[in-house]
Amino acid sequence: MGNSGKTYRVCILGCRGRGTAAGRAYHAHPRTEVVGLCDLKSDLLATLGDDLGVAARYTDLDQMISELRPEIVAIPTGTEFHYELSMRVLEYGVNIDVEKPICVDLVQADTVIKTAAHKGVRTAVHHQGRVGASMKAVSRAVKEGRIGRLRHVSASGKGYYGGYGLMNIGTHLINYILEIAGPCNRVSASALTNGKPIGPEDVLPSPSGMGTIAGEHITAYLEFEGNVTASLSQHRFPVVDSAAYAVEVFGTEGRLFWKSDGAWILPSPHFVPEMEQWEPLPLDIPDQFDPSKSAEADFAFAGEFAACLDDAREHTCSGIEGRHVLEIMMGIFESAAYGMPVPLPQIRRDHPLLRWLDELNHDSPPPMPRGYVEWLAAEDERIGRA
Ligand SMILES: NC(=O)c1ccc[n+]([C@@H]2O[C@H](COP(=O)([O-])OP(=O)(O)OC[C@H]3O[C@@H](n4cnc5c(N)ncnc54)[C@H](O)[C@@H]3O)[C@@H](O)[C@H]2O)c1
Repeated sequence: MGNSGKTYRVCILGCRGRGTAAGRAYHAHPRTEVVGLCDLKSDLLATLGDDLGVAARYTDLDQMISELRPEIVAIPTGTEFHYELSMRVLEYGVNIDVEKPICVDLVQADTVIKTAAHKGVRTAVHHQGRVGASMKAVSRAVKEGRIGRLRHVSASGKGYYGGYGLMNIGTHLINYILEIAGPCNRVSASALTNGKPIGPEDVLPSPSGMGTIAGEHITAYLEFEGNVTASLSQHRFPVVDSAAYAVEVFGTEGRLFWKSDGAWILPSPHFVPEMEQWEPLPLDIPDQFDPSKSAEADFAFAGEFAACLDDAREHTCSGIEGRHVLEIMMGIFESAAYGMPVPLPQIRRDHPLLRWLDELNHDSPPPMPRGYVEWLAAEDERIGRA
C-alpha cells in the first residue's frame, strides 16, 4: 500500500487509434501521467502530442524509455508486433499494458510472462471492458448471489469471420467469462468453413496480423469448476453488427445481461411472459471520470493499473489472465481441428493449427491480405463464393 497517492509515469508506444484511446485515458486519470509518446510516423506523434499537451515525442522507443524512465509503457500496436515490442520494453524492467490479444501463440505469451516475472514487473492486457462499469455490475450481482447459483454464460461476437472474430473480439468475451466463472478447465469447439468442418486447407493467416486462424463459424463450449459451463459463438454475419456483442449469464434464480454500455437483471431464470422484465443494474462510475476526455473502461483500466502497482499485485486484466484467454482460444482451434475436447492448460504450447498442418504434411497457409475487407474478398474467392 506504500505507493498509494503516487502518480505513475506512462509512455505510449504507438499513437494511432488505440494509442490515442490509451493516451487520453492515462492523461485523464488523476493517478497516471503521460510523459512521452513514440511512433514511427511524425504526423501521428504531432496529433496525439498536441491533443494531450505532451512535448516529449520520439521515433525510437529505446531513446524514449532511457530518457524518460516511465513506470508503465502502453503498447497499442498491431497484434503481430505485441511480442517483439513487449520483450523490448520488458528488458528495461518497465510494467507494460499491451493491447489484446497478448500475443499470437502460447510460446510467445509464456516468454513474455516469464520475462516480466524475472524483471519483477507487471503485464496487463488491454481487455478494458472487464474493469468497466457494466462488467463490474454483472460480476457484483453474481458474487452477491442475485441470480442464485451460477449455471451458464453465453457470449456472442459481432459477426466477423469466426477465427478472426475469436482472436479480435472473442479475446474480450472470454476475459468477461473468466471474471464470472473463474479459470476454464476444458474446451470443445466446432469450426465450419463454407458449411463444412474445417480441413487443413482452411487454415489461414489472420487479417490484422492476429496469427493463424481457421473457421468461418465457430461455436465453443467451455467447462469450469462447479458444473458451470459457457458457450461462445463467433459466427460470420452478412454484415458485422456490434449489437450482437453481448454476454448473458444464467443462474438458478435469475439472469444477467451485459453490454458494453449497460447491465440488466431478470429476476427469473425462465421465460414467464407476464413477468418478463429486465431491470437496469446501477453502474459505479468514478466521480473523476469525464466522458469528454476518455472512454469509461479505458479510464477504469488506467486506475486499476495504478491501484495494482500501489498494492504490488496483478492487474485484474493481467498478462497471466491474458495468457489464459489465449490458452482458451488456442484450445478452441485445437478442438475444432482434431475433433476432441482439450483439457487446459494445454501441455503443447505451439500453435495447434500449424501443428495440425505439420502432422498432415500439408503446405503452410498461403499468403492473404492484411486488411479485413480485402482478406474477406480473397477468402470468398477461395471458397468459390465471390
Ligand atoms: N481494446 C480494444 O478495445 C481494442 C479495439 C480495437 C483494436 N484493439 C487492438 O489494438 C491493436 C491495434 O491498434 P491500432 O489499430 O491503434 O494499431 P496500428 O497497428 O494501426 O497502429 C499502431 C501504431 O504503432 C506504431 N508503431 C508500430 N511499431 C512501432 C515501433 N517499433 N516504434 C514506434 N511506433 C511503432 C505504428 O506506426 C502505428 O502508428 C490490435 O492489437 C488490436 O487487437 C483493441
